[in-house]
Amino acid sequence: MNSSKRTPVLAANWKMYKTVAETRDFLKVFLPLVNNLTEREIVIAPPFTALSAAGEIIKKSELVTLAAQNMYFEQKGGFTGEISSIMLKEFGVKWVILGHSERRHIFGEENSLISLKVKSALENDLLPILCIGEKLEEREAGLMHEILEKQLSAGFSEVGNQEADKVVVAYEPVWAIGTGKTATPDQAQDAHINIRSWLTGRFDSGIAGQIRILYGGSVKPENINELMALPDVDGALVGGASLKPGSFAQIASCRVG
Ligand code: PGA
Repeated sequence: MNSSKRTPVLAANWKMYKTVAETRDFLKVFLPLVNNLTEREIVIAPPFTALSAAGEIIKKSELVTLAAQNMYFEQKGGFTGEISSIMLKEFGVKWVILGHSERRHIFGEENSLISLKVKSALENDLLPILCIGEKLEEREAGLMHEILEKQLSAGFSEVGNQEADKVVVAYEPVWAIGTGKTATPDQAQDAHINIRSWLTGRFDSGIAGQIRILYGGSVKPENINELMALPDVDGALVGGASLKPGSFAQIASCRVG
């Protein structure tokens, strides 16, 4: 499959960083730096508390859109501390990151919960960024493909052919997140090919070929072009290196096509 048919996505996952004031300061510097870019989508995922301010600032941009870092699958109810899709959409949120490894491993989110969240996001017109990835011990035990397949089967369990290409998959090996250890190009391409082949088995091949697969885990300005040159890498989900406007602008300006 020719990757040029898929529009690349460069997404910033800010995690639990940035107040409203810091979000405004970032966007003031960042937006002019990426103003002239084309042939890509740039996504910013601030914390919930900064979504409103970020949404106001970027609402005129066609290039830059807003993501939430998580949501609950119910629309409302007695779920203290949770946020629903209708609340997110009020701020102009377009995407939602689901199943991030920190949600899975720090907050104990299981595949079954992530499956319900993906279904709910699609039902409520939010585009899921479904994160999957193996831990180091799983990779070393030869279990990587099995783990990724389990996460994919759960994540896509309620997704039909006609909506499958609304989901973006982010392959983020847990051992590469926040560690400075990026997967080598061979490791990334190997995982991405396997993910693509799983998608092709599950959906019509035309649809499976449209699904974007991002790489995440210590992406930085120095390695983005090498990663983007891989045929099955359709973008990146970036944590640490997305917190400075200059650094994320360099990543967002990567070579595409
Ligand atoms: P990192 O985080 O770029 O800091 O490794 C990526 C992520 O967790 O999405």
